[in-house]
Amino acid sequence: MLKRIALVLLVLKFSVAAIAQQYHEQYRPQIHFSPPAHWMNDPNGLVYYKGIYHLFYQYYPNATVWGPMHWGHATSTDLVHWKNKPIALYPDSIGLIFSGSVVVDYQNTSGFGRNGRPPLVAIFTQHSQAREKAGRNDAQNQSIAYSNDGGNTWTKYAHNPVLLNPGITDFRDPKVMWYAPQKKWIMTLATKDRITFYSSKNLKKWTKESEFGQDLGAHGGVWECPDLFPMTANDGKKMWVLIVNINPGGPQSGSATQYFLGDFNGKTFTANSKETKWVDWGADEYAGVTYSNTGNRRIFLGWMSNWQYATVVPTKEWRSAMTVPRDLKLKKVGADYYVSSKPIGELNSITGQSLFLNDSAGKQAGNQYELYISTEKLKSFSVTLSNDNNEKLIVGYDQSKNEWYIDRGNAGESGFSKDFEKYIHAPRIASGLHSDIRIIVDAASVEVFADNGLTTMTSIFFPQKPLSKVSFSQFDRFKVSYSKLKSIWK
Ligand code: FRU
Repeated sequence: MLKRIALVLLVLKFSVAAIAQQYHEQYRPQIHFSPPAHWMNDPNGLVYYKGIYHLFYQYYPNATVWGPMHWGHATSTDLVHWKNKPIALYPDSIGLIFSGSVVVDYQNTSGFGRNGRPPLVAIFTQHSQAREKAGRNDAQNQSIAYSNDGGNTWTKYAHNPVLLNPGITDFRDPKVMWYAPQKKWIMTLATKDRITFYSSKNLKKWTKESEFGQDLGAHGGVWECPDLFPMTANDGKKMWVLIVNINPGGPQSGSATQYFLGDFNGKTFTANSKETKWVDWGADEYAGVTYSNTGNRRIFLGWMSNWQYATVVPTKEWRSAMTVPRDLKLKKVGADYYVSSKPIGELNSITGQSLFLNDSAGKQAGNQYELYISTEKLKSFSVTLSNDNNEKLIVGYDQSKNEWYIDRGNAGESGFSKDFEKYIHAPRIASGLHSDIRIIVDAASVEVFADNGLTTMTSIFFPQKPLSKVSFSQFDRFKVSYSKLKSIWK
């Protein structure tokens, strides 16, 4: 008996130790969501319902590389702290569970509701590996599932798939929204080199409305993971935003999130400019889309990696994290409009006291932290984040090119891929001498929101130790402060 109790205690001790260790391994993000173990890619089914933010994600539970996709699941009440939940959707005879979205069907148009309560409905791609192997061009079809318990458990519709592939190899990632003026659902679907819009009265029967984008925007790769929503600009102008992720063909190399601004009338989307615009110019924000059911708030979340090297980055127990959630805003700059990104205000709950940097010399800012920089006279400058292993990452502004940049060339391990771009750069979109820059640093990532997020860049890096020392060039023209950020996994 005593022996048995001792054994139980020992097992308990080891599992407590394992849990304590989990989320504190080398390179493990401390203020970003990452799966407890194994492979993750795109955020899926982002929906807010009854005080809970759901995050489903592309998940392979048996390895740290991509494999047969499931929908992993986590929930949060503040978008900062996450609770891991059981897998929400498993592959079946129709196929793997690829990316998609979730809507709240308030009017029970689908008929899946029970006891007068609206169902949540997931709309996602199923990818048939058997058809793919047979060389068929109709391996990807759209299916649905519903939840009557607020998103905890899901039942697949008995008559899946609901939208059949017309013979387009890349036919995926449905993002669905309610189009109130015509009382119908709109599905925005990535169809190889363009977007195809479909509509439905009940989420089960879909009709093609139109195509967009074959000859507009970036086309260096396949279009994936779109999103469509209305926004009001800071001058009151109303517009529609169409997000289109693309891989490869981004502004660095590999994957990235572009967007179009224009008009949508329930049938067609018309862009109002030919310029290719990017939500995030860095190398490591992909498959970014927004939460549904959040009213006028537009909360954006992306996968913090790049298909060029996502499967070979040097993390052991898990692979990849999400970006910090960001509030999108539409802003007028000169004669044109741009989408800006701002880290969500909820991050205040983990933000420590703000301390001014009084001189340019190094300050220990902690393992994960935030920097605020402002100036009335923007000229070339740089901030160096470093450790005592001589690893460093530099963020700065290059006036001669009017560009923001991240230099991660000496920021740690990078030999795992020749495609791990060392110098990330992006145009300054704002004009004027005033500038505000916010930089969020975690164990293995940096997110730069320059000019209040008009130019945003996300990049990952793999230092042996956290880059917790901050130093600054051209100090006199700038106000610089930093705040430590508390781990969300403690
Ligand atoms: C984007 C993507 C999607 C697809 C999913 C598969 O990263 O390729 O187009 O649905 O990942 O995991």
